[in-house]
Amino acid sequence: MLRQQDVGHRIVVRRIVGIREGRPLFSDALGELVELSETHLTLATAHGPLRVPVTQVHRAKRVPPTRRPTAAAVVALERAADEAWPAPTRGRIGDWLLRSADGWTGRANSALPIGDPDRPLAAAVDEVERWYAEQGQPAMINTPLPLAAPVGTELDARGWTARPPTLVQTAPLPLPAPSSVDTPPAAGRVELADGQAGAAGGQAGRWESVVVELATAPSEGWLAVAAGRKGGLPDAARHVLTAVDQVRFAHGYVDGTLVAVGRGTVTGQGRWLGLSLIEVSPEARRQGLARQVIHELAAWGVSAGATRAFLQVEQHNTAAVALYQRLGFVTHHTYLTRVAPH
Ligand SMILES: CC(C)(COP(=O)(O)OP(=O)(O)OC[C@H]1O[C@@H](n2cnc3c(N)ncnc32)[C@H](O)[C@@H]1OP(=O)(O)O)[C@@H](O)C(=O)NCCC(=O)NCCS
Repeated sequence: MLRQQDVGHRIVVRRIVGIREGRPLFSDALGELVELSETHLTLATAHGPLRVPVTQVHRAKRVPPTRRPTAAAVVALERAADEAWPAPTRGRIGDWLLRSADGWTGRANSALPIGDPDRPLAAAVDEVERWYAEQGQPAMINTPLPLAAPVGTELDARGWTARPPTLVQTAPLPLPAPSSVDTPPAAGRVELADGQAGAAGGQAGRWESVVVELATAPSEGWLAVAAGRKGGLPDAARHVLTAVDQVRFAHGYVDGTLVAVGRGTVTGQGRWLGLSLIEVSPEARRQGLARQVIHELAAWGVSAGATRAFLQVEQHNTAAVALYQRLGFVTHHTYLTRVAPH
């Protein structure tokens, strides 16, 4: 049977899914074990999270990992991701990072427990709880797996709750051109000065006329999309979005209307292009616009010297996971965000 040490590792679970003619029916599931409690276990499978009551588990065991990144690679990528999404209020517990941004997004309002906290684990978690209490907000901790699995075990024992898994995915740059993935929309790119992403449009088929503009600051329209997606836009959010030396805000216009957005950053000693806030208006989806936005940001990233791209996507966001898979992204590691009990 499984133990807490198995959290963060690949396992196979044989479940009893029914009974026919007095005999049990089995089904096997393969994935990364992200949570194990007395009553259930949660697997991150290729098809999304799977929560299995332990009463249904016939057998479960660890299986050899697929090609796994080294702990150093996970740390380097997590640090590049932190630089790409910089919380304005920060602290440290040894190597652990503490981040706060008026509650805007989990990533910017959670501790990142990688490296040595310079004190016993339980004392480090106490310190995290104290720091967030001083900020007047709930304590949250992001645990990249399997690296920070022991931290997750400590938090589970304290009654913290885990949000659904987030996949950290990577792809080599340059990305395949949209034309090699599928038929591209006719599109162009325009580099603009601060916040001056203006409208441009074409005459042909409505969505084919998209023009993607990269600006060094977000327009008000771009910020409105971000606010809609992330639930408001406190002052700290502007800091998170813009306080990166190398950043571009993609604006995709059709007939003068902003229909697609995205954000690119280059961090991690210039190696990593980070993609975030990729979003297309509902009426304009499945027309290749997201692909086009990502293509333009990736081309900029390459010109800025980046050699790999990364992004974070919630595992249950099937549309986005399908999009990224199409572009060659694969999961590098996963993380769980845990929240302290109130
Ligand atoms: C995810 C999202 C950005 C995709 O935008 P889009 O412009 O519709 O994507 P594209 O048209 O460029 O899709 C390219 C490919 O991705 C895959 N894809 C995109 N949406 C999909 C969906 N809903 N279901 C399955 N596959 C999908 C397909 O392979 C698609 O190619 P196809 O249409 O030829 O089959 C859009 O659904 C969206 O804005 N969602 C809400 C915001 C969000 O979740 N952003 C991602 C945060 S990480």
